[in-house]
Amino acid sequence: MIINDTVLRQEWIVACLATDLTNEPKQVFIMGERVALFRTEEGVHAFKDLCIHRGAALSLGCVKNGQLVCPYHAWEYNTEGECTKIPQLPASQAIPAKARATVYGCKEQYGFIWVNLSGDMEGAPFFPFPEFEDDQFHKVMWGPQVVAAKPPRIIENFLDVGHLAVVHENYLGVSDHTEIGDYRVIRDERGIHSEEIEVFQPDPDGSGQAKNVYYTYAIDRPMTVHFTKRDKETGNLMSILLTVQPRDTETSVAYGVMCFNYDTGNSDEESVEFQDMIFAQDKPIVENQKPEDLPLDLQVELSLKCDRVSIAYRQYLKELGVNWGTA
Ligand code: FES
Ligand code: CO
Repeated sequence: MIINDTVLRQEWIVACLATDLTNEPKQVFIMGERVALFRTEEGVHAFKDLCIHRGAALSLGCVKNGQLVCPYHAWEYNTEGECTKIPQLPASQAIPAKARATVYGCKEQYGFIWVNLSGDMEGAPFFPFPEFEDDQFHKVMWGPQVVAAKPPRIIENFLDVGHLAVVHENYLGVSDHTEIGDYRVIRDERGIHSEEIEVFQPDPDGSGQAKNVYYTYAIDRPMTVHFTKRDKETGNLMSILLTVQPRDTETSVAYGVMCFNYDTGNSDEESVEFQDMIFAQDKPIVENQKPEDLPLDLQVELSLKCDRVSIAYRQYLKELGVNWGTA
């Protein structure tokens, strides 16, 4: 089923890891739409994955001379979506003007392919990601992780400081340090972000030493958030970006980027394994939350002061008018 949310259709939604789009076209689902991704020398492209001739999936075809070729009768489409060749048509006849593919916005950035279902390449807002551009940070890509939940529940879990010492006990917190001090959420030219929140961790940097570290959470876009963890003694910074693809009404696909300005002592594979393990602890919680839709009415559910980031996220979605096509 299509998620008919006009706000999210204007958003850049993560489609896949950039490394997962090779010379072959690739099929992905974004908000219930079947999308064909493909690469040419010009760059990356996204079409509705549907040939106007007989409804074949264009993603089953191939790329030839910078054009997408339908697998069924080999009609060829250029990157503007115009059909440039119909092999069955006598040479004397013109290609019908209606022979077109629906073109979505598509771009490659921060190690991902992004799709904009509105087709707007220029107008749709994107977000800055300074750590990704900064050579002092080592970057590790994470995902895809398929989750049977809607993106806002997954994103709010990522923004939730209170669960660290409970769900991730002995990894990201300890049971005798569960209290969270008060902090503010600030809106300024940097966007929406929390003040630093003190979290006691058993081994925040792999050295084996338990200590306080400081978390700052930030909301970049409706489907993209990040946090930064700072060690005041060493200056070590770890930033993790989370971006979630609404795949259909029931499932989402989570992706991330881990950025470290220090040597973790782990290989990239080990960093991904650790993140997978942490995510596996969150997954059953998130997949079983009710209601599945994050309540944007702040009178629903009972928040604490330490939930200020979550509250800010709910308010942000409400202001934008994100409604999953249900309103
Ligand atoms: Fe695509 Fe016939 S269905 S060319
Ligand atoms: Co968690």
